[in-house]
Amino acid sequence: MTRQQRHHTAQIAGPLPHLFRFLNESAWARRRGAREAMDFMLGSPQEMPLPELTAALKYWGDPLTKDWFGYKWSESGSREVSARSLRERTGVPFAPEDIAMTNGAFGALGVALRLIAAPGDEVIMSIPAWPFYEPLLRDAGVVPVKVPVRSDTLELDVAGIAAAVTPHTRAIILNTPNTPTGRIYSRKTLRTLANVIEEQSRCNDRRIYFISDEVYARITFDGVRAMSPAEVYDHTLVVYSWSKQLLMPGQRIGYLALHPRMPERDELRDALLMTQIAGGFIFPNALMQHALADLDPLTIDIEHLQRKRDRMVGALREIGYDVQTPEGAFYLLPRSPIPDDMAFADLLAARDVFVLPGELFEYPGYFRLSLTASDDMIERSLPHFEAVLRQARPDEALIAD
Ligand SMILES: Cc1ncc(COP(=O)(O)O)c(C=O)c1O
Repeated sequence: MTRQQRHHTAQIAGPLPHLFRFLNESAWARRRGAREAMDFMLGSPQEMPLPELTAALKYWGDPLTKDWFGYKWSESGSREVSARSLRERTGVPFAPEDIAMTNGAFGALGVALRLIAAPGDEVIMSIPAWPFYEPLLRDAGVVPVKVPVRSDTLELDVAGIAAAVTPHTRAIILNTPNTPTGRIYSRKTLRTLANVIEEQSRCNDRRIYFISDEVYARITFDGVRAMSPAEVYDHTLVVYSWSKQLLMPGQRIGYLALHPRMPERDELRDALLMTQIAGGFIFPNALMQHALADLDPLTIDIEHLQRKRDRMVGALREIGYDVQTPEGAFYLLPRSPIPDDMAFADLLAARDVFVLPGELFEYPGYFRLSLTASDDMIERSLPHFEAVLRQARPDEALIAD
């Protein structure tokens, strides 16, 4: 690799090299497949796929026409399924022709950034955040501007975001339900943000967009609905993927949707197709598009996920951990009992319990647990969480009276 190539890679990678070094070299890499492993590391499936998902893929894998597996871009059938699904979820009249089918949310985010932002533009994001936003932004030549969430509640810091806007700001990435905080942003929060950003767009004479990453929109607890920012702000580009709803991130399909009340949407629509082609043919494969109408109504068992959340949150609190209750998505974000979350994760890993230390996603002092772990893993892990807390803080009485 030349020095120039190395420089380019380092520029776009952001915090990722540390994360990948950890994933490739830590005890998890060696032990994750072991029967004893209690794997809370990533939002990956730890149980067999939904049988209906397998059946749909088998059915639609059988070709009905000569060009069944021919080139596919945003096909009319999958656009219609996506637009209908998004309309039903948000009440916003999204049109099929404003949906660009992509290979998951990764593809949709990359396309959205290239569509609306120019090199040197700034895009604001809240931290802690999904660690792949930064490389996607940097690859598009965009400057990430990071605004921490409010540390007491893990809520979006609207005043902080407003203060971070400059004449170079092009977009704000919003992710609700949020990874990794589990927060669902309220109507009031989103409306306040929308009003402030509308005003700042006017003052700077420069449109600021919302890029709304809604991959967890259908993974919410206690019957709460995750409102889309598109419901309160017309200049929103919605990103969706079926990876989470179906827990099948290796079978990739998602979309980018342009808001129907965005006045510039005709122009953006044309540019969108070219951006997808020039970006490396960022479309889902044929099989996923054929199967989409059957896949969209399916979902993993959210009630089961909620029972796992309740069991984990309740037990961890009883043991003495400081952890908030997530309203949606897959994760718990407990505070590390010692400041060094990497060292704490090592203590757990020595017992085959694998968690993601906050240091690796720019949130030191915390660690992340994925609720995709099985019931069996959860039950077996609890005595270890207790033992490791005693080990880390030997002087403290742990069980609350
Ligand atoms: C917040 C968030 N956005 C986007 C993605 C990417 O989704 P996909 O793998 O479907 O492209 C993920 C996956 O982990 C995510 O957690």
